[in-house]
Amino acid sequence: MLSAKLSEELNKQINEEIYSAYLYFSMAAYFHAENFSGFARWMEVQAMEELTHAKKFFDYIIERGGKVTLSAIEKPQGEWKSAIDAFEAAYAHEQHVTKRINHLMEIAIAEKDYATIAMLQWFVTEQVEEEATASGIVAKLKMVSGTNGIFYLDKELGTRTFEEHNH
Ligand code: FEO
Repeated sequence: MLSAKLSEELNKQINEEIYSAYLYFSMAAYFHAENFSGFARWMEVQAMEELTHAKKFFDYIIERGGKVTLSAIEKPQGEWKSAIDAFEAAYAHEQHVTKRINHLMEIAIAEKDYATIAMLQWFVTEQVEEEATASGIVAKLKMVSGTNGIFYLDKELGTRTFEEHNH
């Protein structure tokens, strides 16, 4: 059985992950409006992955005999100054999510809840990838800033596909 504290924090994480999806869908909408369909596609896939993260927490709470309680999703930002600005915001958001996962892990460790520690380990690894990917795109955008290279980068990121079972 999950402790009341862990149950509350894991429920909060469902909200955080769905908010992440909301934020990335908002970024996708911004990129569509700016005619960067590749960046938009990348953000859509990112958003769909976030929903699978939310579902992992949803399933885990239920598996452990807990109760899922959903709360309101905050309205995300809708405009950014540039592609760099949006991807920098995505990177900053992933750093925030990493802090949340670490916070959950600290509680699970303090409570010696080994099952939750094992479940969270997947997210610890995932966050390393999430941060590396976002910061890598920011670096590439900075490299091509002010050149036609941005159109090639848009095309490259537009090839991203969603693979449900990998996330
Ligand atoms: Fe669910 Fe992007 O971390």
